[in-house]
This record gives sequence, structure tokens and C-alpha cells, in this order.
Amino acid sequence: MKGKLITFEGCEGSGKSTQVRLLKEYLEANSIPYFMTREPGGTEISEKIRSIILDKDNSEMADECEALLYAASRCQLLKEKVLPALNEGKMVIIDRYYDSSFAYQAYARGLGYDFVASANNFALSYAVPDLTVFFDIDPYSAFIRKGGADSTDRLELAGQEFHNKVYKGYKALIEKFPDRIISVDAHADAQKIHECVLTLLRDKGVL
Ligand code: TYD
Repeated sequence: MKGKLITFEGCEGSGKSTQVRLLKEYLEANSIPYFMTREPGGTEISEKIRSIILDKDNSEMADECEALLYAASRCQLLKEKVLPALNEGKMVIIDRYYDSSFAYQAYARGLGYDFVASANNFALSYAVPDLTVFFDIDPYSAFIRKGGADSTDRLELAGQEFHNKVYKGYKALIEKFPDRIISVDAHADAQKIHECVLTLLRDKGVL
């Protein structure tokens, strides 16, 4: 049987990474076969693309170039790791996926849904998530909680206005795909949020 694809989404500082770690610990403790990765990255080639995208010296990068690089990194990850893992029946969890491209590149950068959808045609055709969990916290609270921006990361340095747009982008995506993208209140404490995630996964028949 084909494995399920779960993706985690949220603004910077939404606590996504903590939740990835807690889920990983749960899957290991319960001997559930899984493959976990993050975007952009997850393969040698994709990690190289990641370093080009996030390099703060690449301030001249065109928005279109940025969107295509994310999509390129994603194609490599899908072909090399994700699709094989799903075919082996493993649960696959990705920390960020194409919804990040819709929120950041389509909405916040303003490239529009169609441009990003066409760049992500491969992923949209072959690997649609069974469930996407959105960790819902407004960017300002998230930023404070996180202790400010990472000064080496180009995307984190993009400014509050940009991150507000990202948040609005996510909200628009939730309206567009209400069955697939489920919000979890990310203000609560990490353990409580983890319990919500497990409940969601059980409700969706993933666990
Ligand atoms: P990362 O350090 O992994 O951020 P986080 O811990 O918040 O996930 O950096 C990834 C950055 O790339 C983050 O700012 C979101 C952005 N991004 C996009 O703009 N588009 C995409 O398609 C993806 C996957 C990420």
C-alpha cells in the first residue's frame, strides 16, 4: 500500500521544527516506518540549491528565479527520496512543501498562483499531500517568540510586511483547500500542539 504524505507549514517561528521533532520521537517510539525531510533541501542537490536560494549575498535574485529554484529542489527531492519512500509504504513528513511556494512566492512575492502552480506541476501531479498541518500564529508573535531574524538567511530578512503577506497567503490557501490544509493553534505549548497533531493524523487515518 502506498504511504501517506503529510506536510507541515507555517510562518517563521511558528514552532514547526519543534513539532517535526516531537512527531519524529513519537514515530520512533511506536516503530512506525517513516521518512522525514525538509524543504528546500533533503538531497545533496537540493541542499546545494537551498544554499543558493537562502544566501543573503544573492539579493539580486529575481522572484521568478527564486520560485523556479524552490520547484527544482522539490522535483529532485520527490524523485530521489519522497516517491520511493511512499511506494515502500512509508509515512512521509515534509517540513514545508509547495504550499510554502504558494504563500511566499505566489502571494507574498506577488508572482500569482498560476505561475507557481505551473512551476510545481510535477509535485501537483504526483505528490499531493494527504494532510497539510498549518501552525497558526501571526508573524509578529512568532517573530518575538523566535528572538528575531537570522541575519544570514535572505528570506528571514525580508521584513515584517513581507511576512504578513505570507501569513495572509496561507489563510487564502486554507480557504482554497479546506479539506487538505488544517490549522492548529500554534500559541499553545508544544506538548499540547503535538497532541493536536496526533489527533489530526488519527482522524485522517494516517496513524
Ligand atoms: P528554513 O530555515 O528552512 O525556514 P523554516 O525553519 O522557517 O522552515 O528556510 C526556508 C525558507 O524558505 C523560509 O523562509 C521559507 C522559504 N520558502 C519559500 O519561500 N518557498 C518555498 O517553497 C519553501 C519550501 C520555503
